[in-house]
Amino acid sequence: MPLERAIMIKIKNSEEIGAMRRVGRITADILAEICAAVEVGVSTWDLDQIAVRATKARNAIGACYNYPGRLKPFPAYVCTSVNDEVVHGIPSKTRKIQSGDIVSLDFVAEYEGFMGDSTRTVAVGEVPDDVKKLLDVTERALYAGIDQAVEGNRLGDISFAIQCCAEEAGLGIVRELVGHGIGKEMHEAPRIPNYGKKGTGPVLKAGMTFAIEPMFMLGREEIAIDGDGWTIRTADGKYAAHFEHTVLVTKDAPEILTRYGVAP
Ligand code: MF3
Ligand code: CO
Repeated sequence: MPLERAIMIKIKNSEEIGAMRRVGRITADILAEICAAVEVGVSTWDLDQIAVRATKARNAIGACYNYPGRLKPFPAYVCTSVNDEVVHGIPSKTRKIQSGDIVSLDFVAEYEGFMGDSTRTVAVGEVPDDVKKLLDVTERALYAGIDQAVEGNRLGDISFAIQCCAEEAGLGIVRELVGHGIGKEMHEAPRIPNYGKKGTGPVLKAGMTFAIEPMFMLGREEIAIDGDGWTIRTADGKYAAHFEHTVLVTKDAPEILTRYGVAP
């Protein structure tokens, strides 16, 4: 292969797809419980306690807990990133949710040896119109990316669709952080940037499973990492949003394995 190095993207067989569906459902249900608990006065640590209980109630594993990091392993079940925090915020007893906050909840479950990864950013109380738009456009970009996850398309089609949503709305893209393949491992090949070129990259095949996760920001496209080695925030302090689903590529419509609010 000239120019592009071949990357191995796993194709899941029907048993593995069954397990991915089950963990996807569990992930969605747990994330829904966490999101439902977000209200003024609740601490991000309280939200983590909900995540712990909801995970154990389903005999699942919280895959973020103890995930190795630069300075220390991640110490909680769910990443709670508030306002200018983009990803990997560490739950804290002293970080109480206030009206006007936006809270990203990023949760990964493991069940039967497979992973489901999903994120939602929720607004608490009234938020300004530009923040509302940030959340709407980031979520819309997630679905625009997912729409491209069909057999025969290229990986760059997903990235391009996401990028277009940000650009049309005048939002910044977090370029350092990417979506990813997912299966037995939380992070498998390929990397899925939130910007890219249509018609480039590997051809998608039925049975691939991806975590697609646009992260957009209101301000300048620069991020910084806190002294805790985990929390990533915008350099200019403006708000960021993050939405993520685990998705199965099929021959026709992509299957959203972590879709919320679906009946069993
Ligand atoms: N959705 C996040 C990711 O793909 C979850 C990682 S949390 C961590 O990076 F703590 F495990 F890093
Ligand atoms: Co992810």
